[in-house]
Amino acid sequence: MQTTFPLGSFTVHRVGFGAMQLPGPGVFGPPRDHDQAIAVLKRAVELGVDHIDTAQFYGPDVANQLIREALYPYPENLALVSKVGARRDDEGNWTSAQEPDDLRAHIEHNLRELGVDQLAAVNLRIHSGDPNAVGPVDRDLFDRQLTAMIAARDEGLIGGIGLSSVSVDHLRIALDRTEIVTVQNAYNLVDRSSQPVLDLTTEHGISFVPFFPLGSGFNADNPVLGNPAVKKAAADLGRTPAQVALAWTLSVAPNVLLIPGTSSVAHLEENLAVADIELPEDFAP
Ligand SMILES: NC(=O)c1ccc[n+]([C@@H]2O[C@H](COP(=O)([O-])OP(=O)(O)OC[C@H]3O[C@@H](n4cnc5c(N)ncnc54)[C@H](OP(=O)(O)O)[C@@H]3O)[C@@H](O)[C@H]2O)c1
Repeated sequence: MQTTFPLGSFTVHRVGFGAMQLPGPGVFGPPRDHDQAIAVLKRAVELGVDHIDTAQFYGPDVANQLIREALYPYPENLALVSKVGARRDDEGNWTSAQEPDDLRAHIEHNLRELGVDQLAAVNLRIHSGDPNAVGPVDRDLFDRQLTAMIAARDEGLIGGIGLSSVSVDHLRIALDRTEIVTVQNAYNLVDRSSQPVLDLTTEHGISFVPFFPLGSGFNADNPVLGNPAVKKAAADLGRTPAQVALAWTLSVAPNVLLIPGTSSVAHLEENLAVADIELPEDFAP
């Protein structure tokens, strides 16, 4: 199996790390265990992680500050990818920040907090009503957002433009205007609603980074890790359900880059040991 894929000007291992589980409960405030969060980040890089996904609104600022504390000065091959399009209020509520000025201010905020001059890529995270549903294109706003992202890239603040929570229509419109280096939509073995978007990224050789690959930390009854076919395959292979879910997601297309999120070193080590897993031919989650 191919073990790396391009992400803008970087070529990264197909299993990276998502920083959303590092802040406190509800992705708000400091971590329950600061030293453990730092240990997770250091261990990730030690084990070859060269792609970390973050956001200013994880905490807010907590994930970025932990990344800087643990890893600065960063290895040259480390692709730091952030996203813009939301903000947190004082109570931790997620609100949208979709205007071009918000996008620019939040890119600059990420650069300051992480202590870098350029991010490998930044995803424009579309919010259209339901935060976890992909909505229709607001053409006027989307055009203005793309203009802001293109300016940030052309001025060197970001290495490449990414899109998140987008439809095929968003991606086609964006590709007509500029290069897109990555797409980040919710996708896992029980939610394949973004399959058409994934297929389009594969066709164009663009990395597809599924969020919620393990069914997310927000679900008490995790539909992925609790899936009967996943549990059976895990037992048969002597692996964990998380490893089976990640191995399946990697097998879907060569341009899939994983960023499973965890606050635990043990889970991190599990999640990074999936490239050699061969799923049974009759695996049908
Ligand atoms: N673009 C967007 O809008 C967007 C939205 C959401 C997330 N993301 C990005 O995508 C990344 C992945 O999504 P996610 O973190 O929300 O969800 P996820 O990776 O699907 O699942 C994270 C949950 O799985 C648990 N977990 C991790 N490894 C495990 C293992 N080996 N065994 C059992 N449980 C395990 C974590 O708990 P522990 O901490 O206990 O391990 C956490 O509760 C995020 O970290 C973030 O960077 C992007």
